[in-house]
Amino acid sequence: MDGNGRWAKQRGLPRIEGHRRGVETVRTITFAARDLGVRILTLYAFSVENWNRPKDEVGALMGLLEIYLKRELDTFVRDRVRLRTIGRTQELPAGVRRLLRLTEEKTKDFADYSLVLALNYGSRTEVADAVQAYSAAASAGREDPKGCSWEAFRRYLYTADLPDPDLVIRTSGETRISNFLALQAAYAELVFTPVLWPDFTKADLAKALADYAQRERRYGLTSEQVRPGVSP
Ligand code: FPP
Repeated sequence: MDGNGRWAKQRGLPRIEGHRRGVETVRTITFAARDLGVRILTLYAFSVENWNRPKDEVGALMGLLEIYLKRELDTFVRDRVRLRTIGRTQELPAGVRRLLRLTEEKTKDFADYSLVLALNYGSRTEVADAVQAYSAAASAGREDPKGCSWEAFRRYLYTADLPDPDLVIRTSGETRISNFLALQAAYAELVFTPVLWPDFTKADLAKALADYAQRERRYGLTSEQVRPGVSP
């Protein structure tokens, strides 16, 4: 969800106004994605690196997150949206943690659609955390490091009970992954759009999904193997 700051700057507004508008886009896209058939939407809301932003901005982002969670709780329950999180959420402010726990608990039985918030998330810290958890399991005799496979290791990632993403969209014209689901997105399709996050609409999402639908996912195979009998 990139481009909040630039959206605000273009309008001569403080950066936080861009984030505020960004939250409105979060609300719209959460339901737009479900309308368009998406089962799991993961939003990169706060990275481990984002703590290094100016103190005011970090505080404002945490404040917006708290307001957002308070406001959405009833909506998620009513509209059957399961909220999940990935990241070192234990390091978030107590008020945010409490609301996350409450929302996760109240929505945990909804199976059709999940909104996953990546909060205090970074792929490299995720790997470090997973290695620690895997090592502890190995020391306890529950894992055999000699037989370590991706299937065994992935169970220690924050995303253990989530499928890999099919599509990763980055807004605002940047063409980087920036420490987001680096392992899980190994075979994901990537869509980069110049649209700034506060301006991102359901139509932009539909366009990205249409683009995705045109792609041929080969997972290392040949085109003929993936689509036997279909001439190129
Ligand atoms: C990137 O834009 C955006 C962020 C670092 C934060 C995203 C947060 C929100 C949309 C609001 C809070 C989230 C929720 C779920 C309530 P940027 O600030 O890096 O933009 P810039 O690159 O144009 O400066």
